[in-house]
Amino acid sequence: MQSPSRREPGLSGQLGGRPLRRVVYSADAIQRRVAELGREIADCYTTADELLVLGLLKGSFIFVADLVRAIPLPVQVDFLTASSYGAGRVSSGDIQLRSNPATSIEGRNIVLVEDIVDSGNTIRHVMRVLADQAPASLELCALLHKRTVTLPHEARWVGFDAPGEFLVGYGLDFAEDFRHLPCIGAI
Ligand code: IMP
Ligand code: MG
Repeated sequence: MQSPSRREPGLSGQLGGRPLRRVVYSADAIQRRVAELGREIADCYTTADELLVLGLLKGSFIFVADLVRAIPLPVQVDFLTASSYGAGRVSSGDIQLRSNPATSIEGRNIVLVEDIVDSGNTIRHVMRVLADQAPASLELCALLHKRTVTLPHEARWVGFDAPGEFLVGYGLDFAEDFRHLPCIGAI
């Protein structure tokens, strides 16, 4: 086993050892864009808004962790789970939503945070469920948007317009692999 100082995340998955075909967004490019997003979001709210940042698990967990530290306002953080992909690459359209029952949406200013918008099935469903709970405001921040669809309630903040390839890293997985990568790449 290597000493911790010599260990590097590497650019392959944990289990299969499959390499990335190419790096699409470097760790530096992601960090710069997340810092900008944090400022852009903060420009739209005040401290009195008591923002609730709601991350969609699991894909957004790293993005949320970086984003909330880049928003120069006091925020609260919680997570929802919406699963539609299983171990495959194509959205089944069959979406299940689980949330923390202690989290109240009513009257709150919500920023929903998603890793990537592809078919838009997941986000359309989640936005509808959240809107039904009467938040004071509801906006979407997506790290990546493949721009294959226009959402009825389009993302207010988008990190990058993504290529049509299957992307992994920085929270995004293929069959639960690759989430740990600090960059985003295509497999
Ligand atoms: P949608 O419902 O087709 O918009 O897909 C949304 C969800 O599918 C995202 O939250 C991701 O978890 C997953 N997904 C879509 N495209 C990709 C991709 O290129 N890489 C990894 N996950 C993806
Ligand atoms: Mg996801």
